Amino acid sequence: MRNIQLNGEGRLQHLLTTEGLPRHIITEILDSAVPFTEVAEREVKKLPLLRGKSVFNLFFENSTRTRTTFEIAAKRLSADVINLNINTSSAAKGESLLDTIDNLAAMHADMFVVRHASSGAPFLIAAHLAATGKEHISVVNAGDGRHAHPTQGLLDMYTIRHYKRDFGELTVAIVGDLLHSRVARSQIYALATLGVPEIRVIAPRTLLPSQVERLGVRVFHNIDEGLRGADVVMMLRLQNERMQGALLPSPQEYFKSYGLTPERLALAKPDAIVMHPGPMNRGVEIDSAVADGNHAVILPQVTFGIAVRMAVMSLLAGG
Ligand code: CP
Repeated sequence: MRNIQLNGEGRLQHLLTTEGLPRHIITEILDSAVPFTEVAEREVKKLPLLRGKSVFNLFFENSTRTRTTFEIAAKRLSADVINLNINTSSAAKGESLLDTIDNLAAMHADMFVVRHASSGAPFLIAAHLAATGKEHISVVNAGDGRHAHPTQGLLDMYTIRHYKRDFGELTVAIVGDLLHSRVARSQIYALATLGVPEIRVIAPRTLLPSQVERLGVRVFHNIDEGLRGADVVMMLRLQNERMQGALLPSPQEYFKSYGLTPERLALAKPDAIVMHPGPMNRGVEIDSAVADGNHAVILPQVTFGIAVRMAVMSLLAGG
């Protein structure tokens, strides 16, 4: 079956998930992002790669980093950016997702950047566009339910490559609420595709997906054991909004058992980096001394996100 993300020539058509994304495409995105960091850091002004294109930001769920960096990235590529305010749109009056999409497509959209609380919504949109003869409109998944957040996964890969250079000898530990995390899934698929030999997941049993080992990860329930010798520590937020029932005794208990403190971080390699996709819950999954400390690369992740999103959009536009 053809990968819906690729066109007939094997080039990127949509970005929906890092699962099944070929290694050469991931590498192409990371390589393309390198020169864009100068634009992201404002050393170079705008580029004309998306001039005349309309990018629609459709965020059906809250966002600070992703929505804003997509908007900055599209503007630095000279696109026309339309941010649909979902709360004041006709979606709030009961219009269906696909009716909204049809209407925006009729306004000559070239790209939809979609965040949605329902897993699979961006896939549904991409399939609908293909079925209605509008496959020239690209869809970028900006986070769907607990399923995938591919640009976050890719900006995380960019960050790791920036600080560690080579994926081939790394030990990467992902800590926290994997059960509800679309970020973790996108990270794990990308890390595996890029050849990271040791991917560890660290969490209580209640916050791990069943059969998570099938993703090729080593499971640890004890954070001290899981952090030992890690090159990269990727923290995850407790996704309270997606939890059903009591999966944890309390945030305080969680911090005692799984919070990243300076003492625990000292078990990782001396030059380990600490990452977090945001938003952070200080004192729940991460101690402020770590979040603001020398090992943290959490804010550079955000800046790299602009360059990676520029790379994705320019490749989708055929650049
Ligand atoms: N990392 C991330 O997706 O953050 P936002 O929810 O602020 O976009």
